[in-house]
Amino acid sequence: MTEIQKVAGTAFVVAEFRNDENQEAHPLYRDPFVPLFLDLESKKAADRISRSFPPVRNNVRLRTRYFDDQLRLQIERGRRQILILGAGLDTRPQRFPDRDVAYFEIDAPTTQAFKKARLEENNIDPNTTYIGADYVTDGMLDLLKRNGFDFGLPTHVIWEGNTMYLDDAAVCHILSDLMGRIASCSTSFDYFADKVIRNETGDPEITDVVGRFAAMGAPWTYGIDNLAELAARCGAKVLDCVTIADLHRTFWPGQPLASPLYDYYSLCTVHNAASYCCRRRTAGIVAKAPSATSITNALVRRRSMPQGIQFTGDYEVTALQALIPGGWYIGFACKRCRQHFAILSDPTETGALELSGAATFSVTCPNCETRSQYSARELVQFQAAQGGPSSTA
Ligand SMILES: C[S@@+](CC[C@H](N)C(=O)[O-])C[C@H]1O[C@@H](n2cnc3c(N)ncnc32)[C@H](O)[C@@H]1O
Repeated sequence: MTEIQKVAGTAFVVAEFRNDENQEAHPLYRDPFVPLFLDLESKKAADRISRSFPPVRNNVRLRTRYFDDQLRLQIERGRRQILILGAGLDTRPQRFPDRDVAYFEIDAPTTQAFKKARLEENNIDPNTTYIGADYVTDGMLDLLKRNGFDFGLPTHVIWEGNTMYLDDAAVCHILSDLMGRIASCSTSFDYFADKVIRNETGDPEITDVVGRFAAMGAPWTYGIDNLAELAARCGAKVLDCVTIADLHRTFWPGQPLASPLYDYYSLCTVHNAASYCCRRRTAGIVAKAPSATSITNALVRRRSMPQGIQFTGDYEVTALQALIPGGWYIGFACKRCRQHFAILSDPTETGALELSGAATFSVTCPNCETRSQYSARELVQFQAAQGGPSSTA
């Protein structure tokens, strides 16, 4: 690879950070393909970025797990096309192959040619339709149409590590096109709070890392302060939203948060709610949880469908921290303070799911911090009245 520069070059830095997890004994994910793309040049570029600010590496590890979980969940719900915008060296078509699911990737032709060649040299099926183009300026919808994308199929879009390089007009244009033209579409993306972009966090390390990306020719130019407002403007509804700090507490409990950046970096999934799709329409939903699992694991393992969710096993769960006003949630009434708090967003957004099973849930109320055990019979569905971790039913 030649010198790592500009936004296209960030794909190599991200791939280096993503590869860190392969060294862990109990990894959040495995990516056996990503080492194919790495060399001394990419290592040097990644080290340059992270030397003074190691937390940036964990951002990628945690966010990879989030995007993986959402992808699994959406495929389980019946999504048949996966579109990866600004795919870089994403290997999900290799890591999540499914004969019923077609992958499409858009990125710079040079990045795609390099990636395809490295995969094929190693006898690995690219398993994707590569579209070498700029999805903002080259007309994303026409590009998709010309490349056999089916706008009628339930689709999930992965838009990872991209919004920070765009601006409000481009983000809204792309999101509106996705939501308006694809009959049933969910989209996961990550974003910084606007104060990171404006260098207003007051944290010198964050300011430094912002400067390092700018020096690479890939400045962060866009942040989001009000996700619900952006989503509404683009014809989307927010299904899920967490910060890196939330994921850090879930997956690495007890480990101190190394940087305030984790609170300023969010991951979300929005959808156009046009139709809710489900692969298994007749079977019940069985959530198999090992003895102590996190809420994100629970999200992955549950099998959701419009009619109901059946939980089995014992769950260690984390209450959702930020509820979207008006959104429907599944949770409990705290045994001490009686406030309702959520553990899952209701995928149907109706509050009319059938909840059943013989599961137990251990969870700490975010309002009074009382830790209690609940049975599946105690699950409640409620609509959030206001933002915050708990709400009245
Ligand atoms: C930070 S990397 C992230 C890559 C990948 N999504 C991941 O998380 O591993 C950003 C990628 O988005 C691509 N990208 C950014 N804006 C783009 C655009 N308008 N059209 C096509 N690709 C774009 C860049 O070329 C680069 O590969």
